[in-house]
Amino acid sequence: MINLTELPVWQHLASHQAEMGESHMRDWFDQDAQRFSRYTLQTQEILFDYSRNRITEATLKLLFELANSVQLSSKIDALFNGHAINITENRAALHTALRDPLHTPIMLDGENISIKIADMRKKMQQFVTDIHTGKRRGATGKSFKHIVNIGIGGSYLGPKMCAQALKQYAVSDLQLHFISSVDKTHLNEVLKHIDAEATLFIISSKSFSTLETLTNANTLAGFMLAKFGKAALSHHFIAVTACAEKALQFGITEENIFPLWDWVGGRYSIWSAIGLPLMLLIGEAHFNEFLAGAHALDLHFKHTEFNQNIPVILALLGVWYMNFFGAKVQAIIPYAHRLKSLISYLQQAEMESNGKGINIHGSIIPYATSPVIFGEEGCNGQHAYHQLLHQGQHLIPVDFILVAASSEENEISHQDILLASGLSQAQALMRGKTYQEAYEELTAAGLNPDYAKALANHQIIPGNRPSNVLLLERLTPRNLGALIALYEHKIFVQGAIWQINSFDQWGVELGKQLLPTILRCVKGEAPTQPIDSATLGLINHYKKISKVL
Ligand code: F6P
Repeated sequence: MINLTELPVWQHLASHQAEMGESHMRDWFDQDAQRFSRYTLQTQEILFDYSRNRITEATLKLLFELANSVQLSSKIDALFNGHAINITENRAALHTALRDPLHTPIMLDGENISIKIADMRKKMQQFVTDIHTGKRRGATGKSFKHIVNIGIGGSYLGPKMCAQALKQYAVSDLQLHFISSVDKTHLNEVLKHIDAEATLFIISSKSFSTLETLTNANTLAGFMLAKFGKAALSHHFIAVTACAEKALQFGITEENIFPLWDWVGGRYSIWSAIGLPLMLLIGEAHFNEFLAGAHALDLHFKHTEFNQNIPVILALLGVWYMNFFGAKVQAIIPYAHRLKSLISYLQQAEMESNGKGINIHGSIIPYATSPVIFGEEGCNGQHAYHQLLHQGQHLIPVDFILVAASSEENEISHQDILLASGLSQAQALMRGKTYQEAYEELTAAGLNPDYAKALANHQIIPGNRPSNVLLLERLTPRNLGALIALYEHKIFVQGAIWQINSFDQWGVELGKQLLPTILRCVKGEAPTQPIDSATLGLINHYKKISKVL
């Protein structure tokens, strides 16, 4: 059993941080013209610039020692080899196997799961072809024009984010819609935009028991049954699930059920049949490129020395700030409109995975884990919360995700500004502005010296605020696949260091457990479990005012 905070290297990192004090990155850049090239790594898909971090060679050495002290290499092997690393559910986490183009045999409980994966992919491909060619049609014979994904969490965020990001690679004119929350407004909004005769509904739910998803699915099935009778279900509804039984009970026909397995976590499932809406949009070839990009990153992660390993370094930098600088928040800022949903995708990926307070040994964790992930597409955040990043009192490391080529054809004028905006934010965070610089600027602009002296105080920007730049050449399926896999592995490495099981989510389960009792009470039935007075008070008030409405 590893007691992290008692490891000598943990203590060394703490004293190294204290010795580093306020040493300023601005000075390091001024003294070392090679800092960018020293701290930049590149794969075919991503350039990773980590030069604007409060690190020296000594810091990195200690961080790699920390990784070795928790036996990171053997944990990586356990991940790829399908060990039951999700110890509380006794499951493997084999999302990496889903994107192996060679379908290398991998045995799980005496079964070669690569055969199942290949079969699932074939089924997806055939289905996509049938929809695209019009072989599969709705109950009245119309070909499909709309796809409605009914799912939440990992059964929603991945397909939605990727479909937005890769819209440019669409090979069909299918319109994708997503219904996630149980708020009927959302469902009704979608209904306004579809033609029921030409709509395919995908019920995406690993468990096929998530209340929001089933409520929406039942409502939509009722709506379609009323229009087209029994044929509605067999023609318009398919399911992606690990619980085929429940989908069958719902009325989905066997050939319309796409499998999922317990060794694919919801937030790691975009590579599985949960990615079906994406494959319907971008076609099989692009979907395969998406998988290939993720696989390339898997190989990088698995085979590269830690000091050249992008996810390992990205993760260690996060640990450095969280556990030794007290940073609690991580901003992720994609300077690409098409990546605007990446933030909520990564919120689930990071916070549901590593937002834990109990370690793999069952003990309370005495150090911070998982940062709070927030962000906004660039440049929007600059005109909102970036003020706090520059002059606020919190240290908030930033990942800037930049894309060199625009998604728009022959576009350069906007793109140059977009890229320059991201880079200037990274520079401003790093350099800041001294009192002297502010004073000189103000007097040069003609301000009287007394006023300039007073105003210069307000314009001091401390700088020394860390950021990484992840630069993609363009937003292709391959590069997006690699980017997502990079974050997945970053999360894995941090979980390994923090001694966390990154693949369960018991905190989420509690809400699901409490809901039925509260729902009964909301509906006016007697609660079967004790309910606190605040909840009861609000339920009573809700009943009063909802009647009025
Ligand atoms: O939010 C909790 C969670 O269990 C996620 O991990 C999962 O992605 C989501 O609910 C949806 O679950 P399901 O796919 O089983 O409906």
